[in-house]
Amino acid sequence: MSLPLPTTESRAVVTGASSGIGAALATELATRGFSLILVARREELLDELAHRLTLTHGVAVEVRAVDLSDRIARGVLTDELAKREIAVLCNNAGIATFGAVSELDPEYERTQMELNAVAVHDLTLAVLPGMIERRGGGILISGSAAGNMAIPNNATYAASKAFANTFCESLRGELKGSGVHVSLLAPGPVRTEIPDPTDQSIVDRVVPDFLWVSSEYTAKISIDALYRNKMRVVPGVISKGMSVAGQYGPRSFTAPIAGAFYKKLGAKPTPRPRKFIRK
Ligand SMILES: NC(=O)c1ccc[n+]([C@@H]2O[C@H](COP(=O)([O-])OP(=O)(O)OC[C@H]3O[C@@H](n4cnc5c(N)ncnc54)[C@H](OP(=O)(O)O)[C@@H]3O)[C@@H](O)[C@H]2O)c1
Repeated sequence: MSLPLPTTESRAVVTGASSGIGAALATELATRGFSLILVARREELLDELAHRLTLTHGVAVEVRAVDLSDRIARGVLTDELAKREIAVLCNNAGIATFGAVSELDPEYERTQMELNAVAVHDLTLAVLPGMIERRGGGILISGSAAGNMAIPNNATYAASKAFANTFCESLRGELKGSGVHVSLLAPGPVRTEIPDPTDQSIVDRVVPDFLWVSSEYTAKISIDALYRNKMRVVPGVISKGMSVAGQYGPRSFTAPIAGAFYKKLGAKPTPRPRKFIRK
């Protein structure tokens, strides 16, 4: 069985649709004829995308400007989604912090958990009964290759993505034969925008261009995977390497290596020494 065919009533919901992988997922679903509900906080970006997708693909696109880390605002959205015909849910919105938890803003760490884990759980629970009743639907969760590992200096993110990865792959086991597809997107680095050459992260500096995967490619193989009810999508060579190391490498070995690398991710690049110019 495949995903439900798009209808005028049904909607594909994409969270984090105002940029990066989320915007690409929304575009990919629109090209396949799905009408959409786009969710993120930056309403003007969602409106722009909605306008573009309607114009190009003739689909209906609704915008919900919601802070998904806010339980009350999220509750309004989940109540709405529970009553609507949701064919696809892409649980994609997420944020990350780098550095030692003890040195990071505790409020933002809580926000990260709320967005990356609790909101994913809430939204899934909202659409699931309808999908099961209709015997059709697709849930894609954007976890991460980081969710397979213990990563010092990325602890809240790695742990929140461990929830996303494990919840997703556990849920699909429960839904076998129900007609509801569940796939995990667990990428390593995905290039979502062209890096600023004057302010590159260590990943931008270390990873050569040909090893990066784009948001568009990631979105395409993710939606293909959801159609086929594939368990996990891991785009690109680096993601696959991280995935194998994370799942099969002993944590006592991988955690210090990952931790040292992620420590540098939080740090600003050291300015190159200026050449001494003789006058
Ligand atoms: N890119 C990568 O290398 C990579 C690798 C592994 C996993 N992932 C995962 O893939 C997903 C997408 O990543 P990305 O790189 O495309 O990220 P991105 O470009 O930073 O986009 C994040 C999206 O989440 C939304 N968002 C952030 N906080 C929100 C909030 N409180 N409420 C509602 N929406 C919120 C943002 O929109 P607003 O700011 O408008 O709210 C934006 O649309 C994330 O879950 C990320 O962890 C990405």
